[in-house]
Amino acid sequence: MNKKIIVIGSSNTDLVVQSERLPKAGETIIGTSFFQNQGGKGANQAVAASRLGGDVTFVANVGNDAFGRNAITSYQEAGIDVNYIQLVGVPTGMAMINVDANAENCIVVVPGANNTLSKKNIDAIEKQLDENSIVLLQLEVPIQTVEYAILEAKNNGSTVILNPAPAQSIKEEVLTKVDIITPNETELELLTKIKVIDESTMLKAVNILHAKGIDTVIVTLGSKGCFVSTSTIKEYFSAPKVEAVDTTGAGDVFNGALTAHLSKGQSFEDTIQFALKAASKSVTKAGAQESIPLLSEL
Ligand code: RIB
Repeated sequence: MNKKIIVIGSSNTDLVVQSERLPKAGETIIGTSFFQNQGGKGANQAVAASRLGGDVTFVANVGNDAFGRNAITSYQEAGIDVNYIQLVGVPTGMAMINVDANAENCIVVVPGANNTLSKKNIDAIEKQLDENSIVLLQLEVPIQTVEYAILEAKNNGSTVILNPAPAQSIKEEVLTKVDIITPNETELELLTKIKVIDESTMLKAVNILHAKGIDTVIVTLGSKGCFVSTSTIKEYFSAPKVEAVDTTGAGDVFNGALTAHLSKGQSFEDTIQFALKAASKSVTKAGAQESIPLLSEL
């Protein structure tokens, strides 16, 4: 039986400017294009998991404004259960994103409604948390809410996947409840205080996370793929080579795809290849959610 997926996290409206290069502090440059797109790490992961075959419920707060209402409509169109998204009296989260000609970006997020996501939102979904559910979280909503959600999910028998982005510290006693963690190198360094420069420092860092009680550590390495560490696998997986246009949200697509494939009971190694393929495909198009592929495109 397929497991249901519950994504708990942020929903933003992304305002994206493309330019030849990123501006320096105090500098004005002329851009080449502007567009608006649905974003937010939670929402991107929920949409990716749903487009890639998962049965997804998204728990989030958006503003009772045009941005928030449009976001809910687009999540519904992506096949997501939106019954646990609340409209609140604080503006929808916003992300200002600059993308350069090499597909690199820099992002400033103003959390707005995301900062109101609280224990009450988690209590509302508690009955859905059981051994037939996978809970996927990130760190773009209040950390107390993430920590509470992880403890509730684990106590109720759910599998917990944590994408610790954007990087910030999390209580040790909560980390022990995580089944799968998916940091990038910066996040890995923050969580372990180890600077990863080669395979031996990578192993040292991932072993610190295993010692905290986390069974599976997947370190995402951008265009290089990922490093996977479990009790039986210690292996680099490479990503398909593609012409990148915009890398915004690629990590989110990886997490959504990983969760969707695992929810269908697919083997772990197939799941990693699938997630890398989905993330690589997404960087060939502009925009966070615009670029998330459908299952049929992979
Ligand atoms: O991971 C990419 C996302 O980060 C963007 O969609 C933006 O909203 C920020 O949350």
